[in-house]
Amino acid sequence: MEIVISNLNKHYGPLHALQDVSLRIGGGMFGLLGPNGAGKTTLMRILTTTLRPSSGTVQVGEIDALHDPHALRRQLGYLPQDFGFYRGLTGYEMLDYIATMKQIPRAERKRQVESVLEQVHLTAEARRRVGGYSGGMKQRLGIAQALLGNPRLLVVDEPTAGLDPEERIRFRNLLARISGERTVLLSTHIVADIEASCTGVAVLRKGRLVFYGSLHELVASAQGQVWQLETTPTEWERLQATHHVVASRATGTTVLLRLLARENPLGRGEPVVPGLEDGYMAVMNAAR
Ligand SMILES: Nc1ncnc2c1ncn2[C@@H]1O[C@H](COP(=O)(O)OP(=O)(O)O)[C@@H](O)[C@H]1O
Ligand SMILES: [Mg+2]
Repeated sequence: MEIVISNLNKHYGPLHALQDVSLRIGGGMFGLLGPNGAGKTTLMRILTTTLRPSSGTVQVGEIDALHDPHALRRQLGYLPQDFGFYRGLTGYEMLDYIATMKQIPRAERKRQVESVLEQVHLTAEARRRVGGYSGGMKQRLGIAQALLGNPRLLVVDEPTAGLDPEERIRFRNLLARISGERTVLLSTHIVADIEASCTGVAVLRKGRLVFYGSLHELVASAQGQVWQLETTPTEWERLQATHHVVASRATGTTVLLRLLARENPLGRGEPVVPGLEDGYMAVMNAAR
């Protein structure tokens, strides 16, 4: 299912939170990357019909999202950034409740709740109270509720925030698995979250789209700009003021730096093959 976003703008009073954003999102998993305040949640809320844009259009498959929000909601699963969990309910009870809200017929409810529990590997935990769940389990339950009704479009807003590294990897794998036959739009400020299996990525900065393309293209944005350089601590101080240092590692009396620069730093840098993080930094730098 293709999503076509055209010339989207959103003002909150004087603040221009989205500025003329145009974007096409195909099937599979698509990553929306950007720092806090970039406009990711605003864009997702518009896409999920919980917020109206100031101007622009959103087309999801055959549906004009702004004129026919009800039709879109029937195809949509959404895990908001600030999803509230009912701590006193068990996982099963919470899903059963949300399934009722989503007007899934009683006869089908049990089967669907069990199916989504299975898909997020929470069947064994379903009779426990949500208040006792770990962060990773809560986020998987959040995905389970979004999957009720078997939506073709799944929108998940910063689902890995607050997860520990192991939970984060499990969660990423889960998203990749369920994205198979649907479109999954994932927002994050962590580059590694989109590394695994995104078919495309968009980078937002201060409400503007500063990159849109494949992961390969994002990496290529840093081509020829990544250098490794051995320096002294004093030199390091100076370089940090003038260059974009992405990593530094002290090794005895010297410091090994990885930095972004259009020209070879101090003429002594060794070119390095860029990674996704470098690509992200390069497009953010170019937009400054
Ligand atoms: N309801 C609101 N009223 C006023 N400003 C808002 C509101 N929601 C978000 N903003 C502002 O819009 C900008 C984008 O926010 P948001 O979409 O939440 O970004 P992100 O999800 O990328 O962190 C931020 O500057 C934020 O403070
Ligand atoms: Mg947000």
